[in-house]
Amino acid sequence: MEIYLDTANLKEIQEVAALGIISGITTNPTLVAKEGKGVSFETRIKEIAEIIPGPISAEVVSTEATGMLREAYAMAKWSSQVVIKIPMIPEGLKAVKILSQDGIKTNMTLIFSTNQALLAARAGATYVSSFIGRMDDISQDGMRVIREIREVWDRHSIQARIIAASIRHPIHLVEAARAGAHIATVPYKILMQALKHPLTDIGLERFLADWKSLTS
Ligand code: E4P
Repeated sequence: MEIYLDTANLKEIQEVAALGIISGITTNPTLVAKEGKGVSFETRIKEIAEIIPGPISAEVVSTEATGMLREAYAMAKWSSQVVIKIPMIPEGLKAVKILSQDGIKTNMTLIFSTNQALLAARAGATYVSSFIGRMDDISQDGMRVIREIREVWDRHSIQARIIAASIRHPIHLVEAARAGAHIATVPYKILMQALKHPLTDIGLERFLADWKSLTS
């Protein structure tokens, strides 16, 4: 399973890029708004593209296909890495179909059921983003949807890549990998939690202390 970083924050992206563990970035309007008005969306996406060589999801904010397409064609010019993120609504499907015919990559977002994922894939989406945490929030089993999507994908040889999104804790990451997601997009904080283990820190401290006792 590949790991993407779910953020529009440049500092976080720079720090994690140096670790060599992420292969793409996802953003959404909420994450971009968190960065404030200081920098334009276009500039931020271009800055990210300079750090990360992989796919960068940039989301449209129009709710009609014509507006989505207008935004998508403009954003696709910012960088060849841009993937157009489009909400799973009927107008979004129309836009995905046209963009896919034009060879522009899309990430269909706000997916909460296997049917939605299947229909997004049929319209031509390159990626389908299923929101695990938001389903868990309303007492639905978010990971069950990932498992089900993967089962349908394997049975029918569907190519769209499954993104486990809305990851809320490190266990989600393990579960997404076990469920067969191709990608998990993870907030910085969760990624940092996932790479730590108290026994690693205790073990290192002891190794260094023992080495020091030998050499002092
Ligand atoms: C990424 O593609 C999604 O927009 C993001 O993971 C949503 O996460 P949230 O449910 O924590 O806002």
